[in-house]
This record gives sequence, C-alpha cells and structure tokens, in this order.
Amino acid sequence: MELSDKYMFKHKGSYFVTDLVTPEYIDSLEDFEIRDSDVFLATFPKSGTIWTQNILSLIYHEGHRNGTEDTDLLDRVPWLEYNIRKRDYVSRASPRLFATHLPYYLIPKGLRNGRAKMIYVARNPKDVLVSYYHFSKVSVKLEEAGFDVIMERFLAGKVIGNLWLDHIEGWSAQRDNPSILFLMYEEMKKDLRSSVLKICNFLGKTLTEKELDDVVDKASFGKMSVDRRANYTTMPTDLLDFKKGRFLRKGTVGDWKNMMTVAQSERFDSVFKERMEKLPFKFIWDVNEF
Ligand code: A3P
Repeated sequence: MELSDKYMFKHKGSYFVTDLVTPEYIDSLEDFEIRDSDVFLATFPKSGTIWTQNILSLIYHEGHRNGTEDTDLLDRVPWLEYNIRKRDYVSRASPRLFATHLPYYLIPKGLRNGRAKMIYVARNPKDVLVSYYHFSKVSVKLEEAGFDVIMERFLAGKVIGNLWLDHIEGWSAQRDNPSILFLMYEEMKKDLRSSVLKICNFLGKTLTEKELDDVVDKASFGKMSVDRRANYTTMPTDLLDFKKGRFLRKGTVGDWKNMMTVAQSERFDSVFKERMEKLPFKFIWDVNEF
C-alpha cells in the first residue's frame, strides 16, 4: 500500500475508497474466476455507471422490468472491488453482472484473456468532474472540498478512478477487442433506444418491441429518480448522505458550463487537451451538439 488516509488509499498505482476494500482483496481479483457468461460494466466514476447498471438489470431480469421484484442494483449488478453487501460472488448464479471502476491493467486476468463480455461507458470529462464534485458532498466516503480543489485533484489523478486520461487510454487501447463494447454517456442521452439495442445485440439478447420500450422507459432519468431499486436510495446512510443531494442529480450534457469559469475551463484544456485529442472518441460537450 503506497498511501493511505481517511478517504482513499493507493494500491498498485490506483486509488480506492478506504474502509470499503483492502489491498489484499484487490490483489486477489487478479485470479477472480471469470465465467464466459459474466458481463462486466467498467467506467470511470460519474460516467453513467448506475444508468448502465439499470439497463443491464432491466435487460436480464424480467422481474425488474415489470416491477414485480424488489431487488436493488447493488444486488443485481454489484461492484466487483467494493463488495458492500458482502455477497458470495463465487457461488452466484449465472449470468453474473458486475460493475467496476478498475483500470484495465487491474481487472481479473480471465477478463484480459477474453472470457466474458465487457461494456465500457465514457463521458466527457468536464461533466464527469462536475458530477464528481457534487457527488463528493453526497458520498460520506469522499472528502468534500471546494470546486477548485477537486478540479486540481481531478487533473492530478488524485480521485477515485485515478487520472481520467489514464483510465480511458487504458481501456480504449482495447477498442478492437471484440469482448468489449464501448459506449458514450452522451450517445445514450441522445438516443437511448439505439444504445439499449446496441447493448442487446452485443450481449446476444433479443427483446420484443414492448420489452425494449419498457427498458428505455424505466431507464429514463425521471423513472430512475423515483425507482428505489434503481437510484441507490437503498444504500446505507454511512455511505451516502441524502440530505446533501441525490445520486441521480441532473443527468444532462454540458452542466459543466454552469460550474466552471472560463479560466477553469481553459486550465482544464491546457492539461487534458493534447492527450484527449489522441483518443479514439469524439466527445460531446453540449446538448446543442446533438
Ligand atoms: P450528474 O451528476 O451529472 O447528474 P455514475 O453512476 O457513474 O456515478 O454516474 C452518475 C451520473 O450519471 C450522474 O450525473 C447521474 O445523474 C447520471 N445518471 C444516472 N442515471 C441517469 C439517467 N437515467 N439518465 C441520464 N443520466 C443519468
């Protein structure tokens, strides 16, 4: 373990939430046994994880789709590295769905060897930063600070998920890997139905038109905001403090413009632009670009 404080510790070059995982558990994930039927969702924090978790849950679980079951996302698509409810992942029935913020180089070797399917969702990093800033107030496990401070930490990679550029470069180097589907938050926002279809095709799942309509409807921001199975309001209060905000906050593209000053935006560009331009993604910064 290289660094430790009340909120985060660094292990193998990556920051993790203190209290929620140990270095030994992270080490053990290298050999975590992967099944061909597993589905992993990988993201940098605040890039649309809960949204895609819900879509996966709706695709796979009829009971979730028609509202007859009362199982929340933490159990439907649990976190690989943060096993908050201490579930037995090894004896879990197939197909197992997992979410992770791990950088590509730390994922289980079974995944790197091409077993299972993975979905990586990316979001424009200014909206990620602003969402992270707001979330650091709601999350009891993240250190609260002013926007300027959080932005400097984000640009230096001293946040959960580490340096956004490293995370996305590591994953996007795999863009020709047929086991990984790459999606963008903004493309989901622009046309959710097409994104859900893309996910279904990738996973080999066939839904009827009605089922598809249902997934799209229940994965909308409005529906998820009031669906306790899908908005993390069932999370323990020692993890999230809902008096300070909501997990589903705004769910828009371009909210960074309401937060960042011109000077902050220019500073952000000066640090990120060069490496961002080499990424194989075209980022959307504003709804007007739709
Ligand atoms: P904002 O803070 O910008 O609103 P993650 O799940 O990776 O932590 O990402 C959280 C972000 O995704 C939040 O962004 C949240 O509002 C947004 N989000 C969650 N569900 C969404 C949905 N159905 N539609 C659009 N955005 C959604």
